[in-house]
Amino acid sequence: MKIVTIVGARPQFIKAAPVSQALAGQHQQILIHTGQHYDREMSDLFFDELHIPRPDYELGIGSGPHGRQTGQMLQRIEEALLAEKPAWVLVYGDTNSTLAGALAAVKLQIPVAHVEAGLRSFNRAMPEEHNRVLTDHCADLLLCPTQTAVNLLAAEGITRGVFLVGDVMVDAMQQHGALARQHSTLADRLHLRPRSFALATIHRPYNTDDPARLAVILTALAGLAMPVVFPVHPRTRAALARAGLTLPANVIALDPIGYLDMLALEQTAALIVTDSGGVQKEAYCFAVPCITVRPETEWVETVDAGWNRLAWGDAAQVIEAARRPWPTTPPPPVFGDGHAAERIVRLLERGTL
Ligand code: UD1
Ligand code: UDP
Repeated sequence: MKIVTIVGARPQFIKAAPVSQALAGQHQQILIHTGQHYDREMSDLFFDELHIPRPDYELGIGSGPHGRQTGQMLQRIEEALLAEKPAWVLVYGDTNSTLAGALAAVKLQIPVAHVEAGLRSFNRAMPEEHNRVLTDHCADLLLCPTQTAVNLLAAEGITRGVFLVGDVMVDAMQQHGALARQHSTLADRLHLRPRSFALATIHRPYNTDDPARLAVILTALAGLAMPVVFPVHPRTRAALARAGLTLPANVIALDPIGYLDMLALEQTAALIVTDSGGVQKEAYCFAVPCITVRPETEWVETVDAGWNRLAWGDAAQVIEAARRPWPTTPPPPVFGDGHAAERIVRLLERGTL
């Protein structure tokens, strides 16, 4: 069976890696990289670390306004799908690359499988929310990471082709977590002892593109009273420069880091502060307290279990949220057993229902 996988942004390389491995040797995989992310440390590094096959198509679309970026992807993906005629198109998550892939496929009547289906923030100001709603509504196979996602799809009238498979990011964490601990030397190079530092990532437009909001987050990081390792997303790097903001003395700013270094730091951090979807889940799975600087989260299980706290107010709110006691019982394993990718392959083999 021929399966076209569409990726373009950092989290999609990580999500696609275990599925690509599960498909290997059994099915023909064609990989299309839209080029949404293109810096080495946002793209190629993950192909190398996670042993993802080189893309068959590198579309090189790059950055741009949403309409232009998504439109250019749609056009180029359509050309590739016409040439390849796959049995399935596989899309991941909620980026513009996801939506472009799903739209291109559905217009050619090629079945679409959506990995990480059913997530909702109910915040229509987020581009990701449009991307996921539209992708779910044109997908034939909806591969849900959690029961919550299954329920949310049912509430929108989508029950056909919906399967609870678990989260492919857990597969990736289980495959690489121990290796990361053994091989990463980043914490040593930064002279950081386990549980003596925080790890922060910020990239949502509503946190970066408003200088006042970005300043609040920096003040909050300063108030954590411990070193904060801050791998800076290129969007955030540009926003910091535009706003002319200087980083607090306790913040160690780095270029984006590789997945193994990231998993290693996550496992030894005392606290994680983030607005990333993937990083919230990783914090939860590693039982590391997490503050999410957002008004809401799609990953509600992490908040319900007490391991993740939303802090969308001023810096004092973030600092207070970090200081309150954290749970002493391990987080329940709500994101699956690390075998989501195998289930996905079996479902693709069954064909459309
Ligand atoms: C995108 C996704 C978001 C996801 C995130 C993961 C959309 C709408 N957003 O957000 O859902 O959480 O990826 O990281 O699809 N840039 C570079 N080099 C790169 C990539 C980006 O310099 O390799 C800069 C460019 O200035 C670009 C900006 O970052 O304009 C934003 O990139 P873009 O892919 O549009 O959005 P992200 O914020 O990365
Ligand atoms: N990540 C990484 N290096 C970094 C920052 C993040 O490897 O410098 C990983 C992180 O561990 C997670 C994924 O990238 O697996 C999350 O991607 P991102 O935060 O860009 O997107 P989101 O999950 O919010 O869509």
